[in-house]
Amino acid sequence: MATLHLAARAFLRRGLRQNLDHAFAEGARAACGTVGRLPDVRPAYGTRSFQASAAAQADAPNVTAQERPASSSEQVLLHCDWMNRQLWYDQLRAAGVPVTWPDDVLDWAAVRYAVGWNFTPAVLGKMPSLRAIASLGAGVDHAMRPGLIPPGVDIVRIVDPLMAQRMATWVLWAVINFQRKMDLYGRAQAERRWDKKIENLKPWDNGEVRVGIMGFGAMGAATAALLRAAGYDVAAWARTPRPASPPPAAADAAAGASGAAGVEDVPVFAGRGQLRQFVERTDVLVCLLPLTPETQGILSGELLSWLPRGSAVINAARGRHLDEQALVTALDEGRLGGAVLDVFSTEPLPPDSPLWSHPRVRITPHVSSITDVPNAVAQIADNYRRLVAGVPLINVADKAAGY
Ligand code: OXD
Repeated sequence: MATLHLAARAFLRRGLRQNLDHAFAEGARAACGTVGRLPDVRPAYGTRSFQASAAAQADAPNVTAQERPASSSEQVLLHCDWMNRQLWYDQLRAAGVPVTWPDDVLDWAAVRYAVGWNFTPAVLGKMPSLRAIASLGAGVDHAMRPGLIPPGVDIVRIVDPLMAQRMATWVLWAVINFQRKMDLYGRAQAERRWDKKIENLKPWDNGEVRVGIMGFGAMGAATAALLRAAGYDVAAWARTPRPASPPPAAADAAAGASGAAGVEDVPVFAGRGQLRQFVERTDVLVCLLPLTPETQGILSGELLSWLPRGSAVINAARGRHLDEQALVTALDEGRLGGAVLDVFSTEPLPPDSPLWSHPRVRITPHVSSITDVPNAVAQIADNYRRLVAGVPLINVADKAAGY
């Protein structure tokens, strides 16, 4: 036991740790290439204060409010109904962004920058001078609805290696939960049952589990790197083929290319033409795709039927990627072995959804990769200073691609 413990620790220290530090550092470089600084992605819960993002701000490119000061009456709309909205408000204000709640906006016609989530046409229609919208998260699908955002208004998203790390860790847990039959152990525990027959003393080992990651941007690449480092047989699927030799990490960060180390040997299937081949070699399918008109409903009944019998589906992207009814049918018929879902077509998931009580479904409430407020505030404030100074914004979403 002691030897095992020591061996495991040595493995973690030498292999996994090194690979992961490297992978996350590379991911950070990719994600922040345009910012020109490598943020510390280590979560220091309880000790980190807003100083961290103030420091990030100080390091931001040569854009200072002095170049073209915002007028003292400038107001930035904060449109957010999240449970931590006051934290966002306080931290944005502390970072020099004059955020204002909708009820307190004095002159809607003068608002140039809006920060938030799920803007409505009614709110957007009040701001004819709007130049940019900053999403409070990595996803911008909430702002990409056809006709919602007027042309000429940039949509910027959060690109944060810490969020990628959170996602990768959640997916690793979800894979292990399915692979090692943790829900069955949970049930045995609830019944006070010591059941060694659950895995019949032969676990399904990491190298035997073929994980297929759909979406190979910052989150997908960090997830692939973590799973590779842990010995899983990982492949990825992307909308478009990867270049034969990847360009410098920074070059494609905004478009979501990986740039992360530790994924060089991950085969990347590309486009609809290779989708079936990719799915057919997958025991655990992980969806981390952006939601666009092209990817909506991609986890259809037909796609699920291509998975080998007994496979699992993990969705941490958007609920509307998945045909939930088709999933339940495939689970009930025994074609699928399980599902781990963090996102749903309707959120919060309604109490009468059959997913809640399905014995093969594990649910988390859209928490796989929570936005880190200090890191996000640093980026939103950086973009505010850029807008005021009249220089290009960072992490601008590609409206044509939809993310
Ligand atoms: C995001 C999310 O897009 O949390 O950041 O869903």
